[in-house]
Amino acid sequence: MMDVKENYSLKKYNSFNIDVIAKEFIQINSIKELIDLQKNSKNKNKLFIGGGSNILFTNNFEGLVVHINLKGISVKKINENFSEIKVMSGENWNELVNWCIENNLGGLENLSLIPGNVGAAPIQNIGAYGVELKDVFISCEVYDLNTEKLTIYNLNDCKFGYRDSIFKKNKNLIVVSITMKLSSKNHKINSSYGGINDELKNLNIKEPTIKDISNVVCDIRNKKLPNPNKIGNAGSFFKNPIVNSKKINWLKENFNNIPFYKIDENSYKIPAAWLIETSGFKGKDFGNFGVHKTQPLVLVNYGKASGSDINKLSLSIKEVVNKLFKIELETEVNII
Ligand code: EPU
Repeated sequence: MMDVKENYSLKKYNSFNIDVIAKEFIQINSIKELIDLQKNSKNKNKLFIGGGSNILFTNNFEGLVVHINLKGISVKKINENFSEIKVMSGENWNELVNWCIENNLGGLENLSLIPGNVGAAPIQNIGAYGVELKDVFISCEVYDLNTEKLTIYNLNDCKFGYRDSIFKKNKNLIVVSITMKLSSKNHKINSSYGGINDELKNLNIKEPTIKDISNVVCDIRNKKLPNPNKIGNAGSFFKNPIVNSKKINWLKENFNNIPFYKIDENSYKIPAAWLIETSGFKGKDFGNFGVHKTQPLVLVNYGKASGSDINKLSLSIKEVVNKLFKIELETEVNII
C-alpha cells in the first residue's frame, strides 16, 4: 500500500522554496507503483514532480502531487569507444554527471551543476555551455497516462528544440528513464562556449580532460548563478528569445550595442539577460525577492516570498521588455 500524505508542504520539493500545500502527496519508488497509482487514480488532478527545480507554485495544489523517485544506473559497453548508459528519472542530474566523470564517461561534463533530476532533462532538452541533452540522447522510456502503457521515445520522436520537446506539450507522458551514448575513450572535448576557453587559458590547461571541463563549468556557474541550496531560484526564468532578420535589423538600428547570435539566415537569438538588464531590473531587490545581481535571467526568493510575488515580478519584467524592445519574453519555468 502506498503512503498518501495529506495537506503536505511542498517547500522541500521546489527549488524556489515556496511554502505551498498539496492536498495529497505521494512518492513513487518503482514503475509498478506508478502504473498501480494511475489505475487507481485515473480521474484525479495530478502533478508529477522530480527535483522541483523548474517550477513556480503560485497557489496550494488542490490535487495529488506525485514525486517520482525511481533510482538506478546501468552501463552497457557498445564498443571500444562508446557506452550506453540508462538512468532512472529520479536520479539527481549533477550526481549523475559526477558519477560519469569518475567512471571516465564523457559527454555530460558541460552540463555540470544543472539542478534537478534526470527525468526533467528531456522535457526541456537541458543545455548549457555549448551542449544540449539531445547531443548525447538515444531514447527514453515513457509511461503514457492515457494509454497506461510504457513506450520508448527515440531521439527523433522527442522533437527536441531549444528548451523544448514533445513532453512540454503532452503532459500525459511521464519519463521514467533515459538512455544516452557516452564516450569511454578519446573524449570529444567541447570548449566552444567562450567562457570555457578563456578560463582554460587562465589555468594554463592546454589539453583539458572531461574533469577539467566540468571544473571550469562549475567555476563559471558558481560565479554567476545563485546556488539554489542557499537562495531559492529556478535558474533562468525566461528563454532567450529568437527573432527574425527584419526584427534584428530594427533592434540593431535602435540599440546599437545589442548582443545576438545568428542561428540561421532568418533567426537570431538574443540574450534575455541583456534585455532585462537594459530594462533596469538587474539586481533589483524587493525585500523578500528580486532579480539576481550577476545573472538577471534568474529571479530569486530571499526567504519569505510567495509564488505570486515572483510571478508578478516576472510579469512586470515582461511588460517593460515588451514596451522597450517589442519582444514577448517566454517563461522557461513552469508556473502552477
Ligand atoms: N548578459 C547581460 N547581462 C548579464 C548577464 C548576461 O547582458 O548580467 C548577456 C551577455 O551578452 C552575455 C549573454 O547575456 O554574453 C549570455 O549570458 P550567459 O552566458 O550567462 O548565458 P544566458 O544566455 O543568459 C543560457 C542558459 C543558461 C545556461 C547558460 C550557459 C537559457 C534561458 N539560459 O543563459 O541556462 O547556463 O546559457 O550556457 O538558455 C537555465 O536554463 O536555467 C540556465 C541557467
